Amino acid sequence: MKQATAMARANIAFVKYWGKRDAALNLPQAGSLSVTLDGLGTRTTVSFGVSEQDELQIDGQPASGAALAKALRVVDPIRARAGLQQPVRIVSANDFPTGAGLASSASGLAALTVAAAGAAELDLSPTELSVVARLGSGSACRSIFGGYVQWQAGSAANGSDSHARQLFPPEHWDLRVVVAVTAEGPKAVDSTRGMLRTGAASPYHRAFVDAVDGDLTEAGEAIARRDLARLGRVAERSCLRMHAAMMASDPPLIYLTAHSWQVIEAARGLQAAGVGVFFTADAGPNVKLFCEPDALPVVQQTVEALSGVRRTILARPGQGPRVVPA
Ligand code: PMV
Repeated sequence: MKQATAMARANIAFVKYWGKRDAALNLPQAGSLSVTLDGLGTRTTVSFGVSEQDELQIDGQPASGAALAKALRVVDPIRARAGLQQPVRIVSANDFPTGAGLASSASGLAALTVAAAGAAELDLSPTELSVVARLGSGSACRSIFGGYVQWQAGSAANGSDSHARQLFPPEHWDLRVVVAVTAEGPKAVDSTRGMLRTGAASPYHRAFVDAVDGDLTEAGEAIARRDLARLGRVAERSCLRMHAAMMASDPPLIYLTAHSWQVIEAARGLQAAGVGVFFTADAGPNVKLFCEPDALPVVQQTVEALSGVRRTILARPGQGPRVVPA
């Protein structure tokens, strides 16, 4: 039996990925930039040759259909490269709610990539792992690295140069994030369908994509200098432009709820009072607030006092994936 277990962490983008130039290979229209987070993790065990057919279990529940198909987009190339024909069994557990805009696909597909390569006894470089993880979920290519990470869009038709790299290790800047959980359920429109709809049916999508290169440069500089105000300006505008493009689709795509806006308003109130904090939100109703450690108590207290916030999750920059004992 060939088996390995890996642990990987979610990431949250400061410069958003929203648009594919190739949906089959998950090739993006532009780059993106994120931080990998300790505190939001997935642990996945991959075994070859222990089941009659390909099987997937997520958080104790058997999964098939789209979830299994997504997992096999990562496992199939690894099986092909290792010359393996055996069925795969994948057992995965998240320590945060799945499918609610908390990047469970990034940590899940990154953990799966590392575990599958380990179980298949393939010695892949981080760059190669990032290319494979991207096939499962675009943002997963960023979770192959710890700390501050940039995904370069690349230009090759086969996707060989579309992968992430680390800009700075997690120790470079001790940022803190408060995830304001406003809803726990899975989202109505998954990110793949959402991106395709925005690309095809939003007059603002092109403007969002065209702004990314400038945002990447500015976000990279802000992180290099640990300049929270500057990073916040870039991150908030990337997030709001992404949501504006989504909302302008026909039919519209609206992920933010009244509760999400309540958190965004609270962040803006803190900013007006001189607190160093900024917000971002992905394809779901939860909002993430970033600050430095000295501002964490006031940010956390403010968020937890909001009627629309069910609970908070605290996280900080974390390391890349690793193989762990079963
Ligand atoms: O990689 P996906 O298909 O889960 O898409 C992620 C999209 C966003 O989270 C909204 C933005 C991003 O860059 O992470």
